[in-house]
Amino acid sequence: MLVLGVESSCDETGVALYDSARGLLAHALHSQIAMHADYGGVVPELASRDHIRRVLPLTRKVLAESGCGLAQLDGVAYTQGPGLAGALLVGAGMARALAFALDIPAVGVHHLEGHLLSPLISDTPPEFPFVALLVSGGHTQIMRVAGVGRYTLLGETLDDAAGEAFDKTAQLLGLGYPGGPALSKLAATGDASRYSLPRPMLNSGDFDFSFSGLKTAVLTLVKKAGLGHAADIAAAFQAAAVEVLVTKSLAACEATATRRLVVAGGVGANAHLRERLTREAAARGIAVSYPRLEFCTDNGAMIAYAGAQRLAHASPDLAFAVRPRWDLATLAAV
Ligand code: KG4
Ligand code: ZN
Repeated sequence: MLVLGVESSCDETGVALYDSARGLLAHALHSQIAMHADYGGVVPELASRDHIRRVLPLTRKVLAESGCGLAQLDGVAYTQGPGLAGALLVGAGMARALAFALDIPAVGVHHLEGHLLSPLISDTPPEFPFVALLVSGGHTQIMRVAGVGRYTLLGETLDDAAGEAFDKTAQLLGLGYPGGPALSKLAATGDASRYSLPRPMLNSGDFDFSFSGLKTAVLTLVKKAGLGHAADIAAAFQAAAVEVLVTKSLAACEATATRRLVVAGGVGANAHLRERLTREAAARGIAVSYPRLEFCTDNGAMIAYAGAQRLAHASPDLAFAVRPRWDLATLAAV
C-alpha cells in the first residue's frame, strides 16, 4: 500500500511517501522557523499561509524523487490534530481533495501517534510492547504501547512540556527561538557542575513531570549570576531535565516489566539525553530505539507511516474535520 503523508500541524510542512512493502520512498520538509524567529514564537496565521504555499511543491518533489505517479497512490494520510486549527486545515483540505479526486481513501492521523510510531520507520523496528517517552515542544508523556492504537498513559507533565522548557530557558539565555538545539549546542561547551538546579518531581513515585519550576530556577539564577557563564547554566539545565526524563522512563520500564524503550519527539534529538539514556538503559538490560534524527521533529514520514497502519484497517470515511485538541488515549486500537 502506497500512502502519501502530509504534516501541517504547526510550523513545519512535511510530505512523504511510505510503501508498506518497500518502506519510506521519499520525504520532504519545509521549516518555517526562520519566518517565525522575529516574533519569538509561531504566528498561527503566518503558519497557515506558508503551509498553503509549500504543500503542493513538496508533494510534487516527493513524487518526482520516488518516481511514483499520483495514479499509484492507495491512500492519503494527513495530521488531523492536535495543532493549530488553520494550519491543520491546509493539510486536511489538500489531502481530502486529492483523495476525492483520485477516488482513494484519506485518513486523519493523530500527530502524537505519528511521533510515537516514528522509531518504527526503520529496517530493524522495535517490537511491541514498548514504553515510549514522548518529548516534544507541546507534550511530555510516558506511555505503554502494546500495538497501534493500544496506548496506556503512565504519566505526563503537569505544566510545561520538556521542549517548551528547553525553548523558554534558551530564550532566557538569549539564544532565540526555538532554542532547544541551540541550548544543547551551548551546553556541550559548559560545565554542568558549576551551578546546581532542582530535579523537579524526581522522587515523586509516579511518572509525571513538572518543568516550570526548573525554568523559574534558571530565571532566578540568571538574575543573580548574570550571563557570564551562560554555557554552564545551559549545561546545568540540560543535566537536570535529562536526569528526570531518563530516571522516570527507566522506572516506567521496570514498573511495567518492559525491556524495550522508544524515544520520540523533538527533544529526542538531544545528544545528552540519547547518550545518558542509552548508557543507563544498557546497564539495566533495556534496549532503546530512537527515530532517525530528522524524524524526531515534525515530519511527513511519521504521518505517512501511521496513516499506512490505519488505512490497512480503516473503512472509507468522507468526514472532514480537524481536531486542534485531541486526547491520544481515545484512539481506537487496530
Ligand atoms: O516534536 P516537535 O518538532 O514539535 C512538537 O510537536 O511539539 O518538537 C519541537 C521541540 C522544540 O521545543 C525544540 O526546541 C525541541 O523539540 N528540540 C530540542 C532539540 N531539538 C529539538 N530540544 C533539545 N535538544 C535538541 N537537540
Ligand atoms: Zn510534533
